[in-house]
Amino acid sequence: MYVRTVAAAAAVLGITLSALAGPASATAPSHRAAGPKAVPAAVRAPAPLAGPKAGPLTGLLGLPVVYAHRGASAYAPENTLASIDLAAHLGIDWVENDVQRTKDGVLVVVHDDTLKRTTDVRKVFPNRSPWRVKDFTAAEIARLDAGSWFRPEFAGARIPTLRQYMDRVERNQGRLLLEVKKPELYPGIERQILDLLDRTGWLDQRHVASRLVVQSFSADSVALVHKLRPDVVTAFLGAPPEEDLERYAAFSDRINPWFREISAEWVADVHALRGPHGRPMEVDTWIVDDPETTRRVVEMGVDGIITNAPDVVRRTVYGY
Ligand code: G3P
Ligand code: CA
Repeated sequence: MYVRTVAAAAAVLGITLSALAGPASATAPSHRAAGPKAVPAAVRAPAPLAGPKAGPLTGLLGLPVVYAHRGASAYAPENTLASIDLAAHLGIDWVENDVQRTKDGVLVVVHDDTLKRTTDVRKVFPNRSPWRVKDFTAAEIARLDAGSWFRPEFAGARIPTLRQYMDRVERNQGRLLLEVKKPELYPGIERQILDLLDRTGWLDQRHVASRLVVQSFSADSVALVHKLRPDVVTAFLGAPPEEDLERYAAFSDRINPWFREISAEWVADVHALRGPHGRPMEVDTWIVDDPETTRRVVEMGVDGIITNAPDVVRRTVYGY
């Protein structure tokens, strides 16, 4: 029933929203039909953006919000400025990232707790095994190439500091789903992240109301963020059983699960609870990159879809 309604809505929206989307549709790269690994031409030389494109249209009419996971990471190296610029060029305003900390206390945006997979660290620092993020200074990390592993044309992309990253999201007029990654490795990182967000203007009422969510796989970390800044929207990453959900509702506005772990019933159980801000709790699921799975989770009633291929998911849900 729900999926039929959504399908009908999407069919209509495919026309209506395409027309509304205007500039984003016009600038959308022509790679879309080629599949997630094709490289959009736009990424090679992203121009500064004049303002948000079609992104804010997602989330309308009860359809899920689309989040670009680690940026548009199917097409550009994850968690780099190129990946969030590309998300913006695709008209996706929400980006997701992962925040960790260097040896000298600088917040950086990188997913793994070692630098091996996504940089040339073994070549640049051959004697520093196991190449943990927390064992390198910010200056050392700034020397690493975080783009070549993905495609040669991204050579020279860097692991951004969170400060650099926030400035770019702001320039793109974007919104951020910020993950506190492995907080057990970085005591005090929650307060440090919030301090930086405050300094960069991201904790003012305008940002907190609609442009920022902080999430973590660590319930303790999410609870601490809520305690330090009760106004910030929070999310717990995972799929707790129905009987435990109420406990999370004390400090988490959302429960964000892997799509394979959920059902329509579980999503309804989450929606039946109210989070710390008095609103029904929401569900943003990950990582959904194909049309069939997209339709499946939409039918379950999720509120958001976190995806490496945000153009694919948006087209499936909204028709543009
Ligand atoms: O935002 C959800 C997702 O990022 C959780 O998994 O491993 O990609 O950080 P991971
Ligand atoms: Ca993440």
